Amino acid sequence: MTSLITPTPDIAALIAAARAVLVNAHAPYSRFAVGAAVRLTDGTIITGCNFENASYGLSLCAETVALAATNAAGRLADVAAIAVVGGAMAPDGSVGGDAIVSPCGRCRQILNEAEQMAGRPLAIYCAPPEGDAVVEHSVATLLPHAFGPADLGITPRNKS
Ligand code: THU
Repeated sequence: MTSLITPTPDIAALIAAARAVLVNAHAPYSRFAVGAAVRLTDGTIITGCNFENASYGLSLCAETVALAATNAAGRLADVAAIAVVGGAMAPDGSVGGDAIVSPCGRCRQILNEAEQMAGRPLAIYCAPPEGDAVVEHSVATLLPHAFGPADLGITPRNKS
């Protein structure tokens, strides 16, 4: 499922958190800042932003950082939604515009892992740095025919 949606207050708050954290992106090489905010079932929000490296290929995407932080907090089983916002940095470091980015291929695999471990559909909200547009995706739409834990005979702990 991919559709243009009108955000509820909860979704708007999640997008605001992703916008707030993208200012902390460490992206001096691409000068493309991305923020991600994960919402847990109890409403807790855990954020992340991209973390680049002088050895470019070691760079970490915002979604990966946010989901790794969620895992470190012991809350992978509680993931319900994630918002992603990104854009090119102006010379002063600010990020604006109405372009919507969607998760890269590696992040899609990591989103699938989170969805499988949570045992519930993960809503993915992609929004521009400015403006009201929001596109909602599902993992199945972003990564059809995914390879996942079931292929390795692994059943997530919260699925009996
Ligand atoms: N990036 C993300 O953080 N998430 C994505 O899904 C796409 C790309 C980052 C990686 C890199 O730091 C910069 O954006 C440019 O590719």
